[in-house]
Amino acid sequence: MKFFADTSDINEIKDLKEYGLLDGVTTNPSIIAKSGKEFIPLIKEICEITDGPVSAEVAATDYKTMRKEADVLRNIADNIAIKVPLTQDGLKVCKELSDEGTLVNVTLCFSSGQALLAAKAGAAFISPFIGRLDDICFQGLDLIADILIIYDNYPEYDTEVLVASIRNPMHIIESAKMGAHVMTAPPKVIKQLYNHPLTDKGLAAFVADWEKTGQSIL
Ligand code: E4P
Repeated sequence: MKFFADTSDINEIKDLKEYGLLDGVTTNPSIIAKSGKEFIPLIKEICEITDGPVSAEVAATDYKTMRKEADVLRNIADNIAIKVPLTQDGLKVCKELSDEGTLVNVTLCFSSGQALLAAKAGAAFISPFIGRLDDICFQGLDLIADILIIYDNYPEYDTEVLVASIRNPMHIIESAKMGAHVMTAPPKVIKQLYNHPLTDKGLAAFVADWEKTGQSIL
């Protein structure tokens, strides 16, 4: 499973990279607004640090303006993935950019029918938002299962399922069990995967017992 960082925080991105946990980055207008930084220079910096795809989202919602914005964004770096919303106009932009060889991440997906349309438009990634579905009492993970079944039925679709809106480590584990290609999560959630109380307890016992030996390896 590829791990994307759902953040624009440069220090967090560099940190994940050092631990081998950075296969890409996703951003959205809310994440950029929270950073308080200039959008284009920030994305450029993230692209320089990140070896994999970096999703930068268009701000407009109409076809013409989205297309113009996408052309600006894809010139930032070779590893840009243009993020477009799952609307009719968004998928029109997706089709054009994909035909031209640009990676497109279709965002705000909440149904398997929408995911089918994104695959037909040639999207490199479909981003189903599972946490937001959970928030309104729908099983977000069920959507991942459905999309994977549909995509598996049609090997000609190259679209990767990018599980988004992840809120906890179980979202990552369950998505991985189903074989989702990619997940994007806040770095804090990714790091929760390290934690287990028995690891902490076991390590404390090993450290204490080693001290009793009075030995040193170095
Ligand atoms: C990723 O591409 C999405 O923008 C992100 O995962 C949304 O997460 P949220 O529902 O926590 O805002």
